[in-house]
Amino acid sequence: MIYDKLAKGYDKALAPFEKWFLDKWRAETLSYLPQNAKILEIGAGTGLNFKHYPKCQNAVAGEISVKMLEIARKKTNSINLIQANAEKLPLSDNSFDAAFATLVFCSISKPEKAFAELQRILKAKDKIVLLEHVRPNGLFGYLFDVFNIFTVALFEDYFNRETAKLAEEAGLKILEVKQKAFGIVNLIICEVDK
Ligand SMILES: C[S@@+](CC[C@H](N)C(=O)[O-])C[C@H]1O[C@@H](n2cnc3c(N)ncnc32)[C@H](O)[C@@H]1O
Repeated sequence: MIYDKLAKGYDKALAPFEKWFLDKWRAETLSYLPQNAKILEIGAGTGLNFKHYPKCQNAVAGEISVKMLEIARKKTNSINLIQANAEKLPLSDNSFDAAFATLVFCSISKPEKAFAELQRILKAKDKIVLLEHVRPNGLFGYLFDVFNIFTVALFEDYFNRETAKLAEEAGLKILEVKQKAFGIVNLIICEVDK
């Protein structure tokens, strides 16, 4: 798992981006989640979203990398952390009210499986909110197709994912896609349709 190797330097590497724009986008993403609900985060990483969680009835943060999880543990007492693969969640059907992920669907190898799992653990009309870097439209998109060859090889990161399209193909209802950074980043708000 590449993130076991990246864990130690992750927060430091992201710090300038957090200051510049990312922390603000994280807050905006989590503002779409319901209050006093059962919330699941997948691919929680080192826990950079924890400070923006709404008041929750139960908050669970899943992460596949043990090393990322170790760092996340130091940032919270109230969120339940579990080591979990988003493609096969160790959670019951219909057991949460909303789910979210930030910068995760670029690194999940089979996104369709993760979307199926989210739909399984959520109920009809529950919200899924995603902040993801994606393949931009137009000529830029082709450049990202080239970048993708290197980012997958180096960081297991898919640089040209069309995440909103994948979510729709997986059966989710897309409520809104907010473009950020000229469409390189999308805030995707969708709803379970089952
Ligand atoms: C770019 S990091 C983002 C971390 C965090 N969400 C953030 O916004 O800083 C991607 C994270 O997704 C996790 N990840 C990748 N594939 C996963 C999977 N199948 N299940 C759960 N987490 C996964 C990685 O271990 C890593 O922590």
